[in-house]
Amino acid sequence: MKEIGIILLAAGQGKRMKSSLPKVLHSVGGRPLFLHVLATAQSLRPRHVAIVIGHGAQAVKQAYRGDDAVWIVQEQQLGTAHAALCTKNCFRDFDGDILILSGDAPLISRRTLSALVDAHRQHKAALTLLTASLNKPAGYGRILRDGRGEITGIVEERDATEAQKEIEEVNAGVYVASRQFLFAALERVTNNNDQREYYLPDAVAIGLGQGKRIATVKVDDAREVMGINTREELAQMEKTFQERINRKWMEEGVTLKDPATTYIEEGVIIGKDTVIGPNTHLRGNTVIGQRCQIDGSAYLTDARLGDAVHLKFSVVLTSSHVAHGAIIGPFAHLRPGSSLGSNVHIGNFVETKEATIGEGTKANHLTYLGDVTIGRDTNIGAGTIICNYDGFKKYRTKIGDRVQVGSDSTLVAPISLGDDVYVATATTIRHDVPSGALAFNERQERLREGWTQQKREKMKGSKE
Ligand code: UD1
Ligand code: CA
Repeated sequence: MKEIGIILLAAGQGKRMKSSLPKVLHSVGGRPLFLHVLATAQSLRPRHVAIVIGHGAQAVKQAYRGDDAVWIVQEQQLGTAHAALCTKNCFRDFDGDILILSGDAPLISRRTLSALVDAHRQHKAALTLLTASLNKPAGYGRILRDGRGEITGIVEERDATEAQKEIEEVNAGVYVASRQFLFAALERVTNNNDQREYYLPDAVAIGLGQGKRIATVKVDDAREVMGINTREELAQMEKTFQERINRKWMEEGVTLKDPATTYIEEGVIIGKDTVIGPNTHLRGNTVIGQRCQIDGSAYLTDARLGDAVHLKFSVVLTSSHVAHGAIIGPFAHLRPGSSLGSNVHIGNFVETKEATIGEGTKANHLTYLGDVTIGRDTNIGAGTIICNYDGFKKYRTKIGDRVQVGSDSTLVAPISLGDDVYVATATTIRHDVPSGALAFNERQERLREGWTQQKREKMKGSKE
């Protein structure tokens, strides 16, 4: 079996994006465009992967964490043929088929690429290219065919005649070719066109002129070859992408109340019979259990939810774990390092950070829980603040099981409260409290009878 090599073209600026970011770094589904293509290419287990970079080369390189690709810098973006030719040395001793992909067409599937390579080998072609039929072919190179339907070449839109622009079959920008043919043909490409660029598609006419066999494969689903050249196309692509992911999760038994406003990134996993309300963003490596309920307006990044968790309306969770049966929100913020046990209740206007909270514990109102470990079945009263920061350092707090913290209390870290501690309302605690103790501040409550009436009369007098 012949081996596969990959050339990924990603050096272009993407002028039509009007961006300071190189085009291939724009994201869909939370991932830069070219990384989608790269992941699909890697699934073919290629022998070599050469990525041609140029515009924002450093940034593009940094966006990929793997070390299984060779980066080739194309100093000046002289066209797609020139870009591919820059990789010639990488394939010096390579005898297989080289697959060329564009970094700006992220939906291409592994199935299509395999079919393309298979057809190429079956036809014993010098080069095989992927085509697609589009109702609106604007912007793409058109496939030219003779009376017998044989391909005769490719013409770019800007070089096409009005009649050629009517052609609906377009070049998808995905090719497979033998190494020998490819680089020899690329060396012969000229820049004799409207853009003064070296066009890779010209290799087709060059091959035909040499009597080589050029084969074509038409893609089943034309959406797969959609390339991104403008912000509008990027938005459409995001939509297509979301629709695809949403459909998949609905097929897996997840209810999406409003798929149009549900944004699920590729790395996310969701258990069945989970119900997701509108305006929900599930990002990064978020994992959601079965039978969860997300009311809506939720923004989850790298969050893990057990089964039957209820996220009430409007919550933000980042790098946090929530065990089964917990109820969060409405309007709650779980910041990184929050780890909530089963059946924990976190209510409105509660913020947690680096907080480990035991089973059955509740913090239902207006509270900050930062750098803390709390035991089980503890109740944190409304308005409790953990003062974890003195302006220089952060300190940890420990609270035991079955503790009652009265409303409006402040716990000044570092501090430790044992089990079964009872903190009276509006207490400021600066020292450790042993298990079973009551903690309270001595504060005299005083009264002045008739004070309000006196005050009002005094104010009235001063106005006149
Ligand atoms: C290209 C094809 C067109 C096809 C379309 C499919 C050419 C000349 N035209 O057009 O026939 O229908 O793709 O999407 O190839 N790049 C470089 N270096 C360069 C120029 C481009 O690396 O010097 C990279 C770009 O970053 C991009 C890819 O090559 O990832 C394609 O370039 P782009 O300018 O988008 O080509 P299209 O005009 O879309
Ligand atoms: Ca393009």
